[in-house]
Amino acid sequence: MSDFIKAGGLGDVSAALPRSLRSLYDVRVLIPGYRQVVSEHPDLEIVARLDAAHGLPACELGRVISADGLIIYVIVCPDLYDREGSPYGDQSGTDFLDNDLRFARLGLAAAQIAAGIGDLGWKADLLHLNDWPSALASAYLAWGGTPCPSVLTIHNLAYQGLFDRNRLPTLGVPDSAFQIEGVEFHGKMSFLKAGIVYASHVTTVSETYAHEITTPEFGCGLDGLLRRCEREGRLTGILNGIDETWDPRTDAHLESPFGTNDLKGKQSNADEVRRDFGLAVSRGPLFAVVSRLVHQKGVDLTIESTETIVRQGGQVVVTGRGEDRFESELETLSRRYPGQVGVRIGFEEGTARRMFAGSDFLLMPSRFEPCGLSQMYAQRFGSLPIARETGGLADTIEDGVTGFLFKDASLAAMLGAIYRAVDAYGSRRKLNSMRKAAMGRSFAWTRSAAGYAGVYDRATASAV
Ligand code: ADP
Ligand code: GLC
Repeated sequence: MSDFIKAGGLGDVSAALPRSLRSLYDVRVLIPGYRQVVSEHPDLEIVARLDAAHGLPACELGRVISADGLIIYVIVCPDLYDREGSPYGDQSGTDFLDNDLRFARLGLAAAQIAAGIGDLGWKADLLHLNDWPSALASAYLAWGGTPCPSVLTIHNLAYQGLFDRNRLPTLGVPDSAFQIEGVEFHGKMSFLKAGIVYASHVTTVSETYAHEITTPEFGCGLDGLLRRCEREGRLTGILNGIDETWDPRTDAHLESPFGTNDLKGKQSNADEVRRDFGLAVSRGPLFAVVSRLVHQKGVDLTIESTETIVRQGGQVVVTGRGEDRFESELETLSRRYPGQVGVRIGFEEGTARRMFAGSDFLLMPSRFEPCGLSQMYAQRFGSLPIARETGGLADTIEDGVTGFLFKDASLAAMLGAIYRAVDAYGSRRKLNSMRKAAMGRSFAWTRSAAGYAGVYDRATASAV
């Protein structure tokens, strides 16, 4: 949740979606007490105690109230969560070995809150679970006989939370659940599959991805189960939104704000990004990459296309972190093309926002993309995405109008789209009309909130 910490788009969604639902429901958020959450909140107040169960330790439940009044429950369990690193792994990017315990504890806490904890004085009517780390909650509800509906949102099917079967007793998974109709996945225990099996309803973050995951190509081995969900009317695609801080007229991170009627500001933002990344002064197009540097995002294609971009008079700026090989290949590129390619490994929100504002194009050749937020941020800031036609990219970019889409995950296909973009850049009229169309697109959370409200109401009604 980006109020505290984020490792990608899920952090943004976790901050925005609860807020967009507050006018409809009494929404409360539950998160593990990662170091950043607890240490930065001296106002955290302990409000309840959560009992131990199976091999999962007892812990305390804290409460933080955000500046805008959102109640956030925090699982205080220093042994599990008070560590250096990201929510999922250590500083070198290696997953923590006890992630099963860490996230089973999260799922169990949610189920305990739904069942009602005496000293809390509040009980959930529905749990909305996000991705594998929270998915086990729906199974705990079922195994504990708690009549509370749950909705699981799959933000990324490629991460499933697979663990050794010898962990079942520690996690409190009944032996009878370790079978193909339950939590078993090729001899391992799958948190995400547990969620898909036991949740009242499954959603994912775009309509196209909701369909794609029912096919062998995108289904990560769960397509059969997801086809069944689809047939049962238990699978829905709901596109993410972006929040109102994404406004180039008012964003405090930008030195030169701009809007559709005054695109000149984009030029000063581009100059600023060039200075910041040590690039040469140029009148050519500026391409940006703001992304986790992982296979999913087609970083290899971006790397391969850079030479052509530079030969066409373009420049490239990259920020993000991820797999070592991509980080080092990108750094090699910036040394090979000094003044034309700038790379900053890491992530800083202000830099990312200035890159969206200053760039002409965003490169996003994802192999798959459940929704994708970067392409929406880019459009709002007048940077036209060059992206693969998959998942949420296909649903949020209009080819030739607000960006450029290509079909195959191949260098040739990507270069085809890049040439079209460079062409458009050559015509000021075309470029400005595309920028205006992109900036004018609505990606409002209110639409997604209405979609979730429909799903919640159905899940609640069918649980009665
Ligand atoms: P994903 O969630 O798959 O990474 P999205 O497009 O949904 O992709 O979200 C990407 C957003 O996450 C970016 O716009 C940026 O705000 C942020 N982001 C990108 N890379 C990182 C990173 N290494 N650490 C934290 N946040 C990042
Ligand atoms: C995941 C997906 C991304 C999506 C984000 C938020 O990280 O990779 O496509 O936008 O979750 O739903």
